Amino acid sequence: MNSALPWFSDFPLYLAPMAGVSDKIFRQLCRERGADVLVTEFVSAEGVFRRNERTREYLDFDEFERPIGVQLFGGNADHMAQAAKHVVDWVRPDFIDLNFGCPVNKVVAKNGGSALLKDCPTLVAVAEAVVRAVAPLPVTAKIRIGWDTDSINAPHVARILEDAGILALAVHGRTRAQGYSGAADWDVIGDVVAAVSIPVVGNGDLTNGADVVRRRAETGIAGAMIGRAAMSSPWIFGQVKHYFSTGEHLVSPSLTEKWELIQRHCQLAIEEWGCEDQAIRSMRARLMAYSKGFPNSKMLREKFQHVSTLAEIEEIASAHQPFALPA
Ligand SMILES: Cc1cc2nc3c(=O)[nH]c(=O)nc-3n(C[C@H](O)[C@H](O)[C@H](O)COP(=O)(O)O)c2cc1C
Repeated sequence: MNSALPWFSDFPLYLAPMAGVSDKIFRQLCRERGADVLVTEFVSAEGVFRRNERTREYLDFDEFERPIGVQLFGGNADHMAQAAKHVVDWVRPDFIDLNFGCPVNKVVAKNGGSALLKDCPTLVAVAEAVVRAVAPLPVTAKIRIGWDTDSINAPHVARILEDAGILALAVHGRTRAQGYSGAADWDVIGDVVAAVSIPVVGNGDLTNGADVVRRRAETGIAGAMIGRAAMSSPWIFGQVKHYFSTGEHLVSPSLTEKWELIQRHCQLAIEEWGCEDQAIRSMRARLMAYSKGFPNSKMLREKFQHVSTLAEIEEIASAHQPFALPA
């Protein structure tokens, strides 16, 4: 067993870090539904370093969320190390996760995220500096398989990160150039598993228990990370675990249960924001994701584009449930 990262004694299911999605409320909803390990949305090391107030908000989590990691991005080793130290002093996460996978231009332009896959000396400098700054707290990393198809280097990157003291690695099986298009390349994820002795968490296109079991058997991953499938179906973690123990797919929650979850998510958002209008507007994109797979989802999405109160959502919910009783 890995004593610094005890959750690898079993096969952990991670909720993928997702900017604008995996906030405190969503993380908690996923934890209640079986996610074993949580990671914050990516947080700018420069923002932490400059003690930006908005950045501090991204670091907020509840004890119930442990084990949880704070994910940092940045391309300056010294600033990353100091930011990681501040984060540990402020919120004491269970681990720090380094983002070496973000494809977004704004991040890459500042030599952050996946840009470091092309600049291994800086990647190592960042990893070593952070590991040293927060020791003995564990540091993990999340990478893509390479910059583009001509430069797939994840096994090499994994080895140098292991040498730098990184204790576990999540690998999203796409290149930076792919963005989210095409399919995740699980062969390369398997090559990473073979290249290192630290636990490797596989990530990319997992949508059900059978996917996870197959990818685990093919690659030898030590855990699985689920992102977009959880956005529309946060109960996926429980379903995957049910498949692990029975080999059978657990049916999805009923429409009524799904609406209850949506309304609870909205209520929690209102409490968090302290302003109903802002909270519900901020939920619109999340509501779109939830509507995936609902009957009449096109009509639902049109309605969700304009909502700004919980009452409107409740009204939509009662109109979209087959056996809804009149109020
Ligand atoms: C909306 C969105 C935001 C994301 N933000 C982050 C992030 O902050 N940090 C990160 O490492 N990956 C981020 N990702 C990538 C996911 O963590 C994950 O690697 C990717 O979605 C592939 O997994 P999936 O096929 O299960 O969705 C994001 C993905 C999405 C869709």
